[in-house]
Amino acid sequence: MSLNAPVVTVDGPGGAGKGTVSLRTATVLGWHYLDSGALYRALGLLATRNEIALNDEPALVKLAKNLELEFRNDQVLLDGEFVDRLIRSEQAGDRASRIAPLAGVRRALLDWQRACAKPPGLVADGRDMGSVVFPAAICKIYLTASAEARAKRRFNQLRLKGFDVNIRQLFEEITERDQRDANRPVSPLRPAEDAFLLDTTELTIEQAVEEVLKLVQSALDLSE
Ligand code: DC
Repeated sequence: MSLNAPVVTVDGPGGAGKGTVSLRTATVLGWHYLDSGALYRALGLLATRNEIALNDEPALVKLAKNLELEFRNDQVLLDGEFVDRLIRSEQAGDRASRIAPLAGVRRALLDWQRACAKPPGLVADGRDMGSVVFPAAICKIYLTASAEARAKRRFNQLRLKGFDVNIRQLFEEITERDQRDANRPVSPLRPAEDAFLLDTTELTIEQAVEEVLKLVQSALDLSE
């Protein structure tokens, strides 16, 4: 599969800093950014609104094929409606992780995601960006951090957005979601073979972005 533009993939478990690091990296490079988790989250919201069970694969595939999603700056629009608040809760993350194991749903979202690879380039974050969606990416990064650090970051992030959260409960939800994402047979959460592993437990966002930019720069130098 050839790509229309260079792609950098940033995969890893929830709370490892993928979203913030990827968005900042894309901004520095002047590239597009794909938050693939938002697709699964939006699909989960749509399913709930349409009273579709989260294991009803044929119905979910149909929804996925007709998903009208748009990213505007850091806001997500579903059928023209701003849904950021509705898809950012931990409950929405859990819903997303329950529909994500369905192979048909993942297949239905592939073209949408691949179409985001447009010049001058794309930074894509998720679980299977490097392993399945963009195997020809020029630079693949797998961000990790201890479960405690990730729960703490999610806690701060969600609190900042005005959600009422409990850190112990978040820790449990995050580890449960990790287990589900890592143990599913289709596109499990796992580093691509050629991914660089970056542990952000002890890093600030700025340091993590700096490390990612270094990796991207060497990949760009090599691809010239
Ligand atoms: O990155 P996130 O927390 O927004 O993702 C929410 C869920 O969506 C995650 O638990 C698993 C699923 N997901 C996925 O299976 N593949 C992706 N590329 C992105 C997210």
